[in-house]
Amino acid sequence: MKRPSPKCSTLAITFLMMVGMAGYNPCWAASISGVVKDLVTGLPIAGAAISDGRIQTTSGSTGTYILNELAGNYTLTITKSGYLTTTQVATVTNNAATSVDWALTKNYGTQAIPAARMNYVIFAWNDLGMHCAQDDYSYFMVLPPFNTVKAQVFRRGSEEARLITSGVTVTYAFPKKKNSALHTNFWAFAPQYGFNVPINVGLTGTPLAGEMKPAADGLSWEAVGIPITPYNDDGTWDPYGTAVITVLDSAGRSLQTANVVAPVSTEMMCSNCHGTVNPQLDVLQKHDKNVGTTFEADHARGIVHACAECHSDNALGAPGKPGVPSLSEAMHGFHHDKFSPADRASTNGCYTCHPGPKTQCMRGIMAQAGKGCVDCHGDMAKVATSIQNGRQPWVQEPKCADCHSAAYAENTNTLYRNSLLKNSVEGDMNNKIFCVACHNSPHAELISGNAADPTISMKFQGDNYWIWSCTVCHGGSSRLGMHASNRRN
Ligand code: HEC
Ligand code: HEC
Ligand code: HEC
Ligand code: HEC
Ligand code: HEC
Ligand code: HEC
Ligand code: HEC
Repeated sequence: MKRPSPKCSTLAITFLMMVGMAGYNPCWAASISGVVKDLVTGLPIAGAAISDGRIQTTSGSTGTYILNELAGNYTLTITKSGYLTTTQVATVTNNAATSVDWALTKNYGTQAIPAARMNYVIFAWNDLGMHCAQDDYSYFMVLPPFNTVKAQVFRRGSEEARLITSGVTVTYAFPKKKNSALHTNFWAFAPQYGFNVPINVGLTGTPLAGEMKPAADGLSWEAVGIPITPYNDDGTWDPYGTAVITVLDSAGRSLQTANVVAPVSTEMMCSNCHGTVNPQLDVLQKHDKNVGTTFEADHARGIVHACAECHSDNALGAPGKPGVPSLSEAMHGFHHDKFSPADRASTNGCYTCHPGPKTQCMRGIMAQAGKGCVDCHGDMAKVATSIQNGRQPWVQEPKCADCHSAAYAENTNTLYRNSLLKNSVEGDMNNKIFCVACHNSPHAELISGNAADPTISMKFQGDNYWIWSCTVCHGGSSRLGMHASNRRN
């Protein structure tokens, strides 16, 4: 291991810092540096203490800091009065400067917790932060209209909380979205794509409003595959439509209600490159030209294809045909060099096909902190090559613990959206509460930049943070951290 050379005395370093050259340091081969800002205002924060558990430094007047390190893996913790303590992991290699920026969140408030006067609380979320669908299915199908809302119901007591998984009815409805057939021709073509479902009913038989079913996990309620569109019945474009969840007792009396967003967008800008006249036809023609398929002729005869007929797609559980790359590998691998080097490695490029410059599907706290798609997923080439190297698309995705300390990891081999809190200091509470119940869906993690997201925490906790107050579910007011960290602001 490389050690600091003896000539690098504290005096020498102090001198460099005094002359404002702390960033230039001949003594260590590597360093971690960055800027500390306020999450909401974006203004620099001076005097924040950053520690790797061994050495510590403090941010200067412009929010910058530097930690001189040896090569290795570090878990950094930052503390600053008035702000929440938070962590990031960093890997330092020799002769390289590792950049770790921070965006701090103000301490939790001292408001009265609204749930304290309620007997039931509902946590509801969308499985994904955004579902993608198409307005027009008359040429091909990438993804069908398919949205999934999940909920957990807790009975509050003076002390104890109880998870409710039976004995009540849980319903869902979209007050502004009652007729999807007004806005998509999906059902006219559904049989050709292999789905035999009545109009306004989703692939798994789920209607636009109805009862949620107890989920196989034994902990939650769900409505899987609701076929909503990004349009309200009156035609308004609203990719962040609201579902109303109601919990009823056996006599049909309402025990509690909550609103939750169910995002869906059709903002897929293939037209940026495939022509604005008929981009869908152009896509078919290009596929025919390069692969030898007969999609254009098929279309002329009224025959349409799902991409997943041949390209496997884990989002649909479609196995594809042997020897044909998965749809994700094909799309990202083929297209990456069709984009400028800047676009293929930036949120801007991803937003060409993922929704999108108008929809802004990425709105969670990480986006507020300045992270982009590529920070978590890699660039377009990497999305494809990682699949060639064995990654299962849709099933193996980035992890919270790629950046936060191990105390905040998902469950082993489990997606974030399917993981449960397991390391609370209160044993009875473990294995019962979904991460997303407190933090919200991927790409929409609270504190979100979109006011449609924090409806649950606003109603029950009285702020737009993730669920931090024990009182939301329990009587009493412990000062323990929710995760085993035992941490308090
Ligand atoms: C009951 C609510 C609740 C659940 C469930 C929950 N968290 Fe948290 N989470 C919190 C709170 C509160 C904090 C703030 C720190 C603390 O109290 O430990 C937090 C903090 C975090 C952080 C930020 C860590 C940092 O560096 O500041 C991450 C990442 C995180 N949680 C991930 C998860 C994951 C992954 C799961 C599921 C395995 C999960 N959380 C389940 C409430 C929850
Ligand atoms: C690419 C790195 C990265 C990944 C991956 C990541 N985060 Fe973060 N997270 C950050 C940064 C940066 C911040 C801003 C706070 C800071 O500077 O540490 C943050 C802040 C947070 C906070 C606020 C913590 C506090 O006390 O201020 C929570 C909660 C959180 N993340 C949850 C999650 C969850 C849940 C996941 C997984 C779904 C996740 N993060 C994945 C980088 C990341
Ligand atoms: C999202 C709702 C929720 C939040 C927030 C929450 N709890 Fe719990 N807690 C539960 C559930 C559910 C149980 C398990 C009850 C059972 O066994 O059915 C539980 C169990 C417990 C228990 C064991 C006694 C009992 O009631 O069964 C304690 C103690 C406890 N929690 C403390 C806390 C503390 C301290 C906090 C804040 C750091 C907290 N809880 C936040 C839902 C919550
Ligand atoms: C940055 C420009 C760009 C964007 C955006 C774009 N494409 Fe393409 N695409 C191309 C180019 C260039 C080709 C190759 C044309 C040729 O071979 O003549 C192509 C070819 C294709 C092919 C044929 C692939 C083959 O060779 O088999 C398909 C299928 C395709 N695109 C689908 C799409 C879809 C669907 C979207 C939107 C979700 C999209 N593209 C967005 C540039 C783009
Ligand atoms: C009838 C089967 C079939 C269907 C349906 C199909 N493809 Fe393909 N696709 C192929 C085959 C075969 C290839 C060539 C694979 C190779 O070269 O390894 C291919 C290649 C591609 C490529 C280029 C991959 C590369 O790396 O060269 C893209 C992009 C692509 N398809 C996108 C789509 C899209 C988008 C759809 C739906 C609109 C679609 N495909 C529907 C069979 C199909
Ligand atoms: C802070 C890290 C982070 C950023 C930034 C991020 N993602 Fe993700 N992404 C994730 C995580 C984590 C998952 C897996 C969610 C899960 O496990 O439930 C995911 C999953 C996905 C999925 C699979 C479906 C889903 O929603 O779970 C797609 C598609 C996706 N991301 C695209 C994008 C695009 C496009 C961007 C930028 C507009 C982006 N991501 C930005 C972390 C990130
Ligand atoms: C040319 C269009 C296009 C661009 C540009 C694009 N994607 Fe995608 N992406 C798609 C399509 C189409 C799917 C859906 C494939 C499916 O249904 O399986 C997808 C799916 C994904 C998935 C989920 C499947 C998986 O591999 O895990 C992730 C993650 C993802 N994209 C990330 C990104 C990121 C990050 C970027 C920017 C660096 C990006 N995409 C840019 C078209 C694109």
